[in-house]
Amino acid sequence: MNFFVGITGASGVRLGARLVGELVSRGTVHLSFTPQAQAIAAEEGVSLVFPDGVKIWPLEALNAPVSSGSFRLKGTVIVPCSMGTLGRLAAGVSSNLIERAGDVALKEKWPLILVPRETPLSLIHLENMATLARAGAVILPPVLTYYHWPRCIEDMEDFILGKILDHLGLDHALFRRWGDEAGR
Ligand SMILES: Cc1cc2nc3c(=O)[nH]c(=O)nc-3n(C[C@H](O)[C@H](O)[C@H](O)COP(=O)(O)O)c2cc1C
Repeated sequence: MNFFVGITGASGVRLGARLVGELVSRGTVHLSFTPQAQAIAAEEGVSLVFPDGVKIWPLEALNAPVSSGSFRLKGTVIVPCSMGTLGRLAAGVSSNLIERAGDVALKEKWPLILVPRETPLSLIHLENMATLARAGAVILPPVLTYYHWPRCIEDMEDFILGKILDHLGLDHALFRRWGDEAGR
């Protein structure tokens, strides 16, 4: 099972790094990140060093397997997704591997999960999200969560990561589901 993860230059790069950790035991992770993601990772104290088994592709590698719809992927996740990348995706601009992977996911109609991170949102941001949602993407912003009684940022991250895995059709125990009797 192949996955593609793109990490772009919005705050919350840790979500992307942690998602790779979740997916690596479930299949082959193809990964690319932008220079701005690297800069923000350094700013936010996040390591972008990954275990063997994660295939890291340069952003310019438009000849990577994930550039083609003939290469099958279980899903494509861009997390976090900057407003810049979101806008280019909405416009169909495939100027780097992450944008091309998003474009391919939309045309092939396999899951494309976007985790846009910005606040407040301008009308341009909202319209770009609406365009992408109409084209088939799942817009999954990393919102604050409360009803599962988070005690730390990691608990909130677990919730978002669990929602991403849900949309990839993968089982997990990252959060307690509403209606699940297991204790807090
Ligand atoms: C510390 C820092 C935090 C940022 N956080 C965000 C953010 O949360 N969301 C966003 O859309 N852009 C954010 N930006 C701006 C993006 O990095 C910028 O738009 C960049 O061009 C995105 O490039 P990329 O999509 O190629 O990674 C941030 C920039 C810096 C330096």
